[in-house]
Amino acid sequence: MIQLSSYEKAILKGEMGEAKKFAMELIVKIGEIYQAKDLVQVSSAHILAHYGSLHDAGVEFYEKLVQLEARCVIPTTVDPSSLPVRWEEYRIPASYAQKQKRLCKATQKLGVIQNWSCTPYEFGNTPRFGEMVAWAESSAVVYANSVLGARTNRTPAGLDIAAAITGRMPRIGLYLDSNRVGKVLVEIAIPKLSDLDYHTIGYFIGKKVGTNIPVISGIPTTCSNYNLKCLGAAAASSGAVSMVHVLGITPEAKMMDPFNGKEPESVFKIAKKDLEIIQKEISTPCHFEADIVAIGCPHLSLEELRELCNNLRDKKIKKWIKFWIYTSQSVYTIAQQMGIIQQIEESGAEFQVGTCPVIAPLRYYGFKTMVTNSAKNANVVPSEHDLEVIYTDLATCIKMAVQ
Ligand code: F3S
Repeated sequence: MIQLSSYEKAILKGEMGEAKKFAMELIVKIGEIYQAKDLVQVSSAHILAHYGSLHDAGVEFYEKLVQLEARCVIPTTVDPSSLPVRWEEYRIPASYAQKQKRLCKATQKLGVIQNWSCTPYEFGNTPRFGEMVAWAESSAVVYANSVLGARTNRTPAGLDIAAAITGRMPRIGLYLDSNRVGKVLVEIAIPKLSDLDYHTIGYFIGKKVGTNIPVISGIPTTCSNYNLKCLGAAAASSGAVSMVHVLGITPEAKMMDPFNGKEPESVFKIAKKDLEIIQKEISTPCHFEADIVAIGCPHLSLEELRELCNNLRDKKIKKWIKFWIYTSQSVYTIAQQMGIIQQIEESGAEFQVGTCPVIAPLRYYGFKTMVTNSAKNANVVPSEHDLEVIYTDLATCIKMAVQ
């Protein structure tokens, strides 16, 4: 039987309104299924509200919460939307767009921060070390647990907004010390890592470790947060990784023994030749010329946008290729004020703000072959959207797109 505080019991009795009661019932039910002893107090939430995954049931669920006059009681951000910018030009049915708009409206009424990004930690939702949060979105979950040292499970849709409304989650999974212990040692034996290597390493690790927590050695301390973000996103997509320890870099691996005094259950090495093989495997066979380049999975940070701006200077994108850059509303707004957006757009590249190449329904667009520097994107897009994919580094993505 799950232990509840008097406050939590009062919510469950309906003393704080129907919405909180409804959300708490869901949380307690999940807690009982997973045999949680009690609930943890969470200080932020990151939710999914994209129609492409939630479908009509999700729209009705969110609208029911609005009807019940629910409100987020903790800072709550939202993952990218399913509706691309200028969706009318790309044969997306109006009925589809309408459903995503209903979800947007519902989240606004609930008080969700309208950033529509998978990198909520960049702006508006940055938990501290040890803080308990309830985040959905696999790439953000790995980043929160690993790089920030916050604690979250890969919170399922529905439970994420329930956490936002109550500020509670069952004490299970990665909220517990015992479940944050590394199981597999991954030794990187490569002297110099490129940006693309971090994606590829993450993809390889996800395939090998499944749900286990890897402890990675051999990553230089000079690696960027961008590199760690991409490694984690890829590992979460090819496996079900929700946390990685990187020796000498991630906070828990610096502060304590990530194996908690035990021997790793298995050890594997990654050499340069492994990455070359995996990189080729991530691409699909291609029969058509590239017609879309997608950069920004996960969403680009300001630093990455700056770098991209430098790389695109004095270049022109071919007329028949879409060069789409994915980022959050907040990064876009700041980059606009800095003149970065305008400089990038001079090349012919376009921005897709607050949406994502995987979640938005690219199948309606008629694209055939996507070029991307994201292992997560390359891993998911062929099955989601029936596209061919070329997975390669940023320099080659640009080279393939420019005149
Ligand atoms: Fe973000 Fe979409 Fe990639 S949510 S991590 S841009 S698949």
